[in-house]
Amino acid sequence: MLAQNNEKRGGLRQQLSKTLRYLRIYGLGRTWFKVAGRMRTPLVLRSLRPGRVAGRDIAMIGCGQFAFATIGYFIRRRFGNRFAECFDPATPAATSFAKFYGIPQPSATAEAAIHADAVRIVYIASNHASHTPYAVEALAAGKTVYVEKPVAVSLEQMCRLAAAARSTTGKLYAGYNRPFSGAIGQLRPHCQGQQGPLTLSCFISGHVLGPDHWYRRAEEGTRICGNVGHWLDLAVHMLSWNTLPDRWTVMLAWSNENARDDDVSISLTSERGDLVNIVLTARNEPFEGINETINVQWGETIAKIDDFRRMEVWQGSRNRVHRFWPKDVGHGAAILQPFKPGRPWREVELSTLLMLHITAMVKAAQRHSEFSFSAASAQLEAAIISGTSNASDSAIAG
Ligand SMILES: NC(=O)c1ccc[n+]([C@@H]2O[C@H](COP(=O)([O-])OP(=O)(O)OC[C@H]3O[C@@H](n4cnc5c(N)ncnc54)[C@H](O)[C@@H]3O)[C@@H](O)[C@H]2O)c1
Repeated sequence: MLAQNNEKRGGLRQQLSKTLRYLRIYGLGRTWFKVAGRMRTPLVLRSLRPGRVAGRDIAMIGCGQFAFATIGYFIRRRFGNRFAECFDPATPAATSFAKFYGIPQPSATAEAAIHADAVRIVYIASNHASHTPYAVEALAAGKTVYVEKPVAVSLEQMCRLAAAARSTTGKLYAGYNRPFSGAIGQLRPHCQGQQGPLTLSCFISGHVLGPDHWYRRAEEGTRICGNVGHWLDLAVHMLSWNTLPDRWTVMLAWSNENARDDDVSISLTSERGDLVNIVLTARNEPFEGINETINVQWGETIAKIDDFRRMEVWQGSRNRVHRFWPKDVGHGAAILQPFKPGRPWREVELSTLLMLHITAMVKAAQRHSEFSFSAASAQLEAAIISGTSNASDSAIAG
């Protein structure tokens, strides 16, 4: 009993000290939404004042922590209560989201939420394997779609999504947020116009995921889809500031044969000499959440980004420090893409093709391969035209 009480007290102390740390990193408003999303007690759910009511035209599919604490936070801060519908197969998630954001009732099915007359914009933050089917359904209904990463967990899904995106007037945006961060936005002018190769190194301390975590289910596409896609997408985005080289050599190293997507190092070198290195390590839970160090050298520009809270840039003899408070990983601007010019979908398609190629390598325990953006795109286009979605992941992993 005593041991149990001590354990409980220890747990509470941990939670309290984490909350205080989040206050320092994210400020009061965002921290409150993060805490509320985890607690969802009746008192918490009644805590949000009704606020401004904009035209309610958003459906939220998947009402887990990211939907509640991040998408909900940025939508609410910008527009007031704009959610019209929400759906989650887990009733407590759906009902608590509805209560907090002032939706009379969660929808009985995702289809009902997507097709509701009032809904113009559909946000998708459900499990990874369900992103494509929901996005395709919403696009076919002519809705604007924001889909969380990954946008697809297989090439077959990617073909369906690309075909849907090409055959609708509905707009499609992805939840890859690093390109929208303050640091990357401020780094861009220092790198644009470079003709030579880029060196980019990303070191990520990720969350420890237990063996039963849903990210680990076979159908969800591995942590390459679930996490690493962020930095592959960042690399494709940055390279696209100038000219994206076509042909790449991909090399992988993992420390545990039984969890090849957990502590993994990915090295990419291009025909031009670009060098991209991504290390994901998840050996210990980072107390402040996922932590990233990003180093860049491009032409005469050298930059160090420390967890999207601080960036130092050198250009020749010039040196400048940028600070970002609250920490700015780009979530806000990414989430608000449906309301202002977003980023070219083509970049997301290319980064997803590369991510799926590396996913296939990890699944097949393949340490070395060649990848070409033009060949992967041609295969995707051919599959779309034939309407068969017959591009196979292993074929592209060749
Ligand atoms: N962009 C980012 O930085 C970032 C950060 C965290 C999470 N995410 C993404 O947000 C999404 C949700 O992650 P999370 O952290 O909130 O996880 P979570 O486990 O808290 O929430 C997932 C929710 O999806 C629901 N769900 C499961 N199957 C569903 C289905 N078929 N249809 C609808 N809902 C379903 C679950 O019941 C759960 O409530 C994931 O795609 C994740 O990759 C993005």
